[in-house]
Amino acid sequence: ALRLRVREALGAREPADAVRVQGWVRSVRSQKEVLFLHINDGSSLESLQVVADPSLEKRDLTFGSAVEVQGKLVKSPHRMQNMELQAETIRVVGPCDIWAFPLKMKERHPLEYVRQFPHLRCRSNTLGALLRIRSEATAGIHSFFQDNGYVHIHTPIITSNDCEGAGELFQIETSSEAKESAEKTHFFNVPAFLTVSGQLHLEVMAGAFTHVFTFGPTFRAENSQSRRHLAEFYMVEAELSFTKSLQDIMQVMEDLFKTVTSTVLSKCPRDVELFHTYISPAQKSDITHKLFSSSCRISYSEAVEILKQAPQTFTFKPEWGCDLQTEHEKYLVKHCGEVPVFVVNYPYDLKPFYMRDNEDGPQHTVAAVDLLVPGVGELCGGSLREERLPFLESRLQRLGLTDAYQWYLDLRKFGSVPHGGFGMGFERYLQYILGVDNIKDVIPFPRFSHSCLL
Ligand code: 4AD
Ligand code: MG
Repeated sequence: ALRLRVREALGAREPADAVRVQGWVRSVRSQKEVLFLHINDGSSLESLQVVADPSLEKRDLTFGSAVEVQGKLVKSPHRMQNMELQAETIRVVGPCDIWAFPLKMKERHPLEYVRQFPHLRCRSNTLGALLRIRSEATAGIHSFFQDNGYVHIHTPIITSNDCEGAGELFQIETSSEAKESAEKTHFFNVPAFLTVSGQLHLEVMAGAFTHVFTFGPTFRAENSQSRRHLAEFYMVEAELSFTKSLQDIMQVMEDLFKTVTSTVLSKCPRDVELFHTYISPAQKSDITHKLFSSSCRISYSEAVEILKQAPQTFTFKPEWGCDLQTEHEKYLVKHCGEVPVFVVNYPYDLKPFYMRDNEDGPQHTVAAVDLLVPGVGELCGGSLREERLPFLESRLQRLGLTDAYQWYLDLRKFGSVPHGGFGMGFERYLQYILGVDNIKDVIPFPRFSHSCLL
């Protein structure tokens, strides 16, 4: 028999005789004359309807069980589906104790409920749809960059640098080092951490390939238990050489967003629709906004002025030189009409050492850009990098980092060029396009995802 995935069976143009389908039972409905099953194998949101003689029913043929069905693929008389499978044999490969199984037939379990079962929730419609979308978006991101001439770089996960300088690092040690904490010896002779960003390594590569990207796991030991922070998350990062303006960086952010989102919409429309129907009904009409039909660009200084003039009071008083808080980001997005907002030129003292000095004053800024989006806040962060040796040297010196970053300074001695780049949080991207409130619902396994191990 020809083995077909459910997706292939549903999309088949022609009936076929000996067909075999494997998957998990999503529903069983037994009538006097006929037995109906729905089989899902994760290849699509829709399940395949199986029609069988009631004599094929067995005690362990239940919701949740794994089955192999052999039979004829025929045109379905139902308006809603193209094909159905007329079963000749049904084999229960793995039975399922339906009383103990936390998912129930025909129930739309809320995301909070299935989150309690990280090992089983991928068999629910919502997480199934999410994980297919995540997979297509991943492929879309790789295609976008490859199609535009970027070289993909595997940047290291274990590193000794703190790119963002925020000290939010997970340190690596061997299990024996952890025990003998009295006398510290390091496996790598120096302290080593899980990377917070691949940017510095990408800058190395941009010095040879001009356009590079990386897309991998990053780690932050932030103590913010919010609905948009993870301890382990995926970041898409791009770095471009011979780039003098922030506008170029913003253009890549926007093109990446538009291209990947259109890919996702065309590759898994039903999966996306599920989110827009059941998880975030308000989002659907909003989808054009999300494709950047319009966006807004303001400077950090303008942003602070807007916040100061806001009719509402904030928990954190807006003040030039202070970080924008979630409440501020929300207000700015609302002020601009619930569209994506680029905020450029942040205070020099607020941002990491690698950002390019704008040499303005008295309100001293760097060429940084953050992209804020409705409902999520900061989606992307980027900047022009300081490519001028004297500027970078003196900044690192003041921070006492000159020794650690000799190699980074070298890049400014041997063919330095103006360059810049950005990082986009992949989970926040998914939250935004799908309207998912809690970031734990857009990752495959939520266990060690957060500073508190819920
Ligand atoms: O703004 P960030 O910290 O920028 C960087 O790390 C740069 N070195 C990137 C670059 O220029 N190559 O992080 C980039 C994005 C943020 O805008 C946010 O979307 C996401 O990464 N992000 C997080 N996502 C989930 N959980 C966290 N704890 C996150 N921290 C940052
Ligand atoms: Mg940032």
